[in-house]
Amino acid sequence: MNIVLIGFRGTGKTTVGRALSKKLNRPLIDTDTLICDQMQQTIPEIFSTLGEKRFREIESKVIQNIQPKEDSIISCGGGAVLDSKNINHLKKNGFLVLLTAKAESIEQRTKKNDDRPPLTDKTPLEEIRFLLQIRDPIYKEAADLIIDTENKTPDELIQQLEKL
Ligand code: S3P
Repeated sequence: MNIVLIGFRGTGKTTVGRALSKKLNRPLIDTDTLICDQMQQTIPEIFSTLGEKRFREIESKVIQNIQPKEDSIISCGGGAVLDSKNINHLKKNGFLVLLTAKAESIEQRTKKNDDRPPLTDKTPLEEIRFLLQIRDPIYKEAADLIIDTENKTPDELIQQLEKL
């Protein structure tokens, strides 16, 4: 079974995806990496040259084209499930695991890695709160399993996921 990691920025999808793929020796598919490889640009470059709307179109195409081998780990960008077509395709291909965290934790975690383009003109914490309000119901509706990452180490998360 393919494991599809979804959730907001900074909830650990990339870290957990990489570690899980290594531990279980299963292929890792990262939608942001596929986009960057295809466009030969970083995510901030794509946002600044083409804009978010075009990024979402490219993201959808990339997701629709994913044909994973059985037992892959698929790590999705935080906005990947905002298009229901993407959710349907991902659901056909695997078991969707939503990683969650509090807005304040997300702010702390994403602060260390500032190469993410802003999605609004709000301050970082305001943006996270604002987008979580919109996205949370969508994430939860799409998820087959929800894992709260608060106070959990990557190892603990991996232990939980490798049992799936
Ligand atoms: C986005 C999340 C990012 C990346 C892009 C947009 C979002 O992925 O796809 O910056 O809309 O939440 P991560 O969740 O891996 O940071």
